[in-house]
Amino acid sequence: MEYIGATGVPVRFDALPIEEGIDFHFILGFAIDADPLGKPQNGTFSPYWASTLTPKSVATRAIKAKHPNVKVMAGLSGCSIGKKALNWYIPADTQHWISNAYSSLRSMVETYHLDGIDIDNKRFGRHNDSFAYCIGELLSLFKNQSIIFFASIALFYSIVIPYIKLYKDSGDVIDYVNHQLYTHRVRTPGGYFEAFKLRTAQFDKSKVLP
Ligand SMILES: *[C@@H]1O[C@H](CO)[C@@H](O)[C@H](O)[C@H]1NC(C)=O
Ligand SMILES: *[C@@H]1O[C@H](CO)[C@@H](O)[C@H](O)[C@H]1NC(C)=O
Ligand SMILES: *[C@@H]1O[C@H](CO)[C@@H](O)[C@H](O)[C@H]1NC(C)=O
Repeated sequence: MEYIGATGVPVRFDALPIEEGIDFHFILGFAIDADPLGKPQNGTFSPYWASTLTPKSVATRAIKAKHPNVKVMAGLSGCSIGKKALNWYIPADTQHWISNAYSSLRSMVETYHLDGIDIDNKRFGRHNDSFAYCIGELLSLFKNQSIIFFASIALFYSIVIPYIKLYKDSGDVIDYVNHQLYTHRVRTPGGYFEAFKLRTAQFDKSKVLP
């Protein structure tokens, strides 16, 4: 899995070497529930990845046609928009948030020919329970209706708690756990191995991608 399009550089899919026979997921960075100034939109997501990553460049005649092993997903949220940090917030009305997220992301999935969604929220406050509920419902709706075929979650050591809750409640609709070991500042191979063992005990080991 490789994130693409988040830094503002006008990148293209074919900038990356794709090896045939190995599943390769591009994750577009990012679809964000905020306006360009970072103001939350009650669950209405907009695409903020580099404009060079057009719907056409994803579609049948482009990257996915060239490489049948390529899938394209949208990453949700990320860390910040411009200089504004993106926090999980308590939706004023959870059903309204879920329904806005469902309709805005469904149309993005159709426009960009997406195969999946990666959950990439990075900042949480104390009231983080609504995260597991809202995201779990959203992924279940998409998976149940075969609107997406892959769902992953992306986490690191200091935000593992809300992701464990999400996984406990909705792990059956989550295919991969992107564990971002590079944030650990571990200095030795043994240290990485310990961190890996801990995460594979908390999440299914067959789903953890270090
Ligand atoms: C979000 O919902 C709240 C409560 O319904 C409303 O007051 C607010 O204006 C909405 N915000 C946006 C950006 O639509
Ligand atoms: C989630 O909330 C609980 C209590 O409300 C808090 O103890 C925990 O640290 C929070 N998790 C994160 C990652 O902020
Ligand atoms: C998805 O389908 C499963 C199994 O049929 C069901 O238990 C679950 O409630 C459904 N979830 C949603 C959000 O529709």
